[in-house]
Amino acid sequence: MSNAPAEEITTEEVDLTAANHVIDKYLTLHGNLMPVLQGIQDEYGYVPRPAIDLVADRLNIYPSQIFGVLTFYAQFHLKPRGRFIIRVCVGTACHVQGASRIVETFFDKLHIGHAETTPDLRYTFEKVACLGACGMAPLAMVNDATYGKMTVQKVEEIIADYNQRPMK
Ligand code: FES
Repeated sequence: MSNAPAEEITTEEVDLTAANHVIDKYLTLHGNLMPVLQGIQDEYGYVPRPAIDLVADRLNIYPSQIFGVLTFYAQFHLKPRGRFIIRVCVGTACHVQGASRIVETFFDKLHIGHAETTPDLRYTFEKVACLGACGMAPLAMVNDATYGKMTVQKVEEIIADYNQRPMK
């Protein structure tokens, strides 16, 4: 696995066929910007820059207006995301139970930091607020799977497990 963050990944060569289909679907709908952007994110896992230009062109709005929406709503992502989203809770209960050590271990093992994605797009890592299961602190999640009472050893086991899983 290579070790640099994915910021340098270009979006120049994105196939816009799926984006065009999403726009076609909502073209005549009043207030269609949000469903169009959500549909595009569902297709690509994020909203690629060329898709923003396409939406601006086809819906006849400025790209700056679209960026305004994309940056206002936390649900939208402007960069590619990993197949596996690792979240580690840094809420009070988890912090007290050693969440920082868990976070640092993920950083060390994956060679990425908060809100970064591995270059192979396998992992995105995020520190998050209380996940509502404080009795299992310190807590981590990988996509929808929850891992309680986290330890450094469990971090290594989780990474070994997800390194084996298919990307699709
Ligand atoms: S503080 Fe981590 S789950 Fe509540």
